[in-house]
Amino acid sequence: MDKKPSQPSAPSAQTLARFAEITGAQYALTSPEDMSGYLSEWRDKFTGNAAMVLRPANTTHVSEILKLANETNTKIVPQAGNTGLVGAQIPFETGHEVVLSLSRLNKIRDIDALDNTMIAEAGCILQKVQEAASDVERLYPMRIGSQGTCQIGGNLGSNAGGIATLAYGNARDLVLGLEVVLADGRIWNGLNRLRKNNTGYDLKNLFIGAEGTLGVITAAALKLYPKPMDRQVAIAGLADTNAAITLLALARSRMGNGVSGFELLPRFGIEMVAKHTDFRDPMETAYPWYVLFEITGGNAPDSLRPVITEILEQAFTQGIVEDAALAASEAQADRFWLMREQLTEVQKHEGGSVKHDVSVPVSSVPDLISRGLKVLEQIMPECRPLPYGHAGDGNIHFNITQPEGMDKQAFLDRWDDLSEPIIDITLDLGGSISAEHGIGRLKRDMMPRIKSPVELNMMQDLKVLFDPNNILNPGKVLPARHD
Ligand code: MLT
Ligand code: ZN
Repeated sequence: MDKKPSQPSAPSAQTLARFAEITGAQYALTSPEDMSGYLSEWRDKFTGNAAMVLRPANTTHVSEILKLANETNTKIVPQAGNTGLVGAQIPFETGHEVVLSLSRLNKIRDIDALDNTMIAEAGCILQKVQEAASDVERLYPMRIGSQGTCQIGGNLGSNAGGIATLAYGNARDLVLGLEVVLADGRIWNGLNRLRKNNTGYDLKNLFIGAEGTLGVITAAALKLYPKPMDRQVAIAGLADTNAAITLLALARSRMGNGVSGFELLPRFGIEMVAKHTDFRDPMETAYPWYVLFEITGGNAPDSLRPVITEILEQAFTQGIVEDAALAASEAQADRFWLMREQLTEVQKHEGGSVKHDVSVPVSSVPDLISRGLKVLEQIMPECRPLPYGHAGDGNIHFNITQPEGMDKQAFLDRWDDLSEPIIDITLDLGGSISAEHGIGRLKRDMMPRIKSPVELNMMQDLKVLFDPNNILNPGKVLPARHD
């Protein structure tokens, strides 16, 4: 069987008309204006073209669309909230692909507070899922900056992480079952809500993180958790990144999995948010590094206040923490977190940014950062490194902001020069080039470097098995196989 991705040719007018019949003409978009929101992502790194954007209303529509796509060899690009960061949800420039938007599949089909489960469709906005859980005194723990826009299907397709991974795991850990439409249109109803189910291969975990290349996730049975009785949030100022890892160990020794967020920020990050938003320095003195951390649990509101106070006092006595600001209210705790979320956004205002989403063993975070900073200093001394993020998971967004006054494009043209050393250091430390954003188009060609031939071949074999005509998001995640 030919394993190379076939070159997509444009779907015929007749095929497009048949697609439109499935969704109804008003949900089969073809004009550039109607399609534009589906063809580029918010960082403007990838902009594609499409023959059509389809907006099915339900799983049956998705099934009929894929059946027809498979028969006519039409290439399909599944898309949920279009907040992905690696270009997986954006079609290529050819204009021959069809975007399959899941956003109208936006029902919460069921919520069961006793089972601690929710069945949500792929187009449900993450925040809506969080709110629905909260309405029944439960928690759906995933938290990411784009939660007001991103959708469950994209969270699962990319196996998204975020700030609560530390305590609850990433998207994969929050799923009990899936409903998936296969490339030939068959529907797999795997929406079980079982906590234990050892009956053969774990198929759901093939589709989660596959970025729409193996099937289209249309609904998921999600895990819910008890809503914590208390939450305490603090920002600590630190002299160096080693202190952050020591603080994490100290906090976990007191709270275990109750440490529900642990984010590292350099001074530059605080300054950037202060410059572009109304957020102000939480402490009088500036420190080279900050940790924003949260503990949750307890048995009553404010029951964890003495615990976080003790952690901070102990850290202060041991010289781990220089100073700290403890959120005085829920509103202030929200503001601390808003500052962290805004850091993702405000980078745009400072010009070009070379992005990374790397992970290393937690204890190697200081090494990653110090080696990375040293090498960047040699390559481009005026660049403004911004290594920040989910230090509690060893996941650092080692971003690099352009030098002030430099031409944005001239800076971005140096992407590989700046990125390669960070990747090399990451791999040298036994790390990963994609901790939580996925591979998509951005990192596809790095796969042969980071995967052994046997691992890559297994993935390519699975792709052929699940999608023999290569209609599902071709050219994403996996490079063509040449054997
Ligand atoms: C974040 O944690 O802020 C995002 O995952 C990083 C990003 O947008 O690069
Ligand atoms: Zn992140």
